[in-house]
Amino acid sequence: MDTKIYQLNQIDEAAAAIKRGELVSFPTETVYGLGADATNETAVKNVYLAKGRPSDNPLIVHVNSVSMVEKYAAEIPDNARKLMKAFWPGSLTIILNIKPGVLSKTVTGGLSTVAFRFPDCQPTLDLIAKAGVPMVGPSANTSGKPSPTTAQHVYHDLNGKIAGILDNGPSRVGVESTVIDMSTDTPVILRPGAVTKHDIEGVIGSIDLNHHKVGKNETPKAPGMKYKHYAPSSQVYIVDEGTDWKQVVKWIEAQPFDVGIMAETKILQSLSMPTNAVQFSLGDGVADASARLFDGLREFDDEHNVKAIMSQAFPAVDLGGAYMNRLNKSAGGMHFSLDQKN
Ligand code: TXA
Ligand code: MG
Repeated sequence: MDTKIYQLNQIDEAAAAIKRGELVSFPTETVYGLGADATNETAVKNVYLAKGRPSDNPLIVHVNSVSMVEKYAAEIPDNARKLMKAFWPGSLTIILNIKPGVLSKTVTGGLSTVAFRFPDCQPTLDLIAKAGVPMVGPSANTSGKPSPTTAQHVYHDLNGKIAGILDNGPSRVGVESTVIDMSTDTPVILRPGAVTKHDIEGVIGSIDLNHHKVGKNETPKAPGMKYKHYAPSSQVYIVDEGTDWKQVVKWIEAQPFDVGIMAETKILQSLSMPTNAVQFSLGDGVADASARLFDGLREFDDEHNVKAIMSQAFPAVDLGGAYMNRLNKSAGGMHFSLDQKN
């Protein structure tokens, strides 16, 4: 199968493919998703196959209206409605109890809840409207790899496995949506994203942060949390705030192989780089860095033969919390430290 790139004037074609039960990757403001008709069991099964995703990891259902949620959710509690009003369309995914029998087990991974997202991306809202069905949409990467923020990233991972990709250029936010569980009386943030705890508390009052760790045989609250994530083939090291970048560069210079270095432009420009350092700019500030992180990790993987990647840390507050959550996972918790490395 040849994977087509649909331009923004070909949304009708992309919608027809979704209606036929085919898979189409769609843009969002966070990352690209892998779309299929959420009401078509075979199509949904094919999403897991294309990604190589474990079948117990449920999918987000993308909608273009609150009334579409009402068709599938058992009820929408008042606080969930307030969040929808405040943040939709936008980067907040809301988990609710499911109406029995309306969506296949394949979508929910057998859970009694379902995650809903109303993305802030008009071409995809048009795609859902034209297809006339809600769309499942995990991030459109091969399972375990960094999420895709361009149509080219999706093409790299899924060419030949899906019907097409609706190209809307690079994603603006770059890290996946905040996921909040509103299915019980105690709201819990399961994944940090651009809509922050602070933003949410401004609408529904104080909430718990999730520190839930999952044992091997336990059913996790957000099943995706137990799997390996965002990992390029070379080891990523977090360069903590306050680290002297000159020491990082000195370490790189001493290596017999190429090393990637991801930091803000002003940091890169302040350093005199050894020839075996491969640079990737995270731009200026944490919003730029979040938008570029996955692109950088992918570029080192696909275009350079680096054996390690040094990446800048940001304070883990607000959007920085989402950035550091992804960077920590991609690094498997490894930090650059002079003790280990000199
Ligand atoms: O920004 C995003 O959310 C992107 C774009 C494409 O919308 N989508 C995305 O999907 O990141 P995915 O499948 O890569 O991540 C969804 C996360 C997974 O960790 C999954 O386990 C969790 O949400 N999740 C989905 N449904 C759930 C449910 N009913 N209960 C708990 N966690 C759920
Ligand atoms: Mg994902």
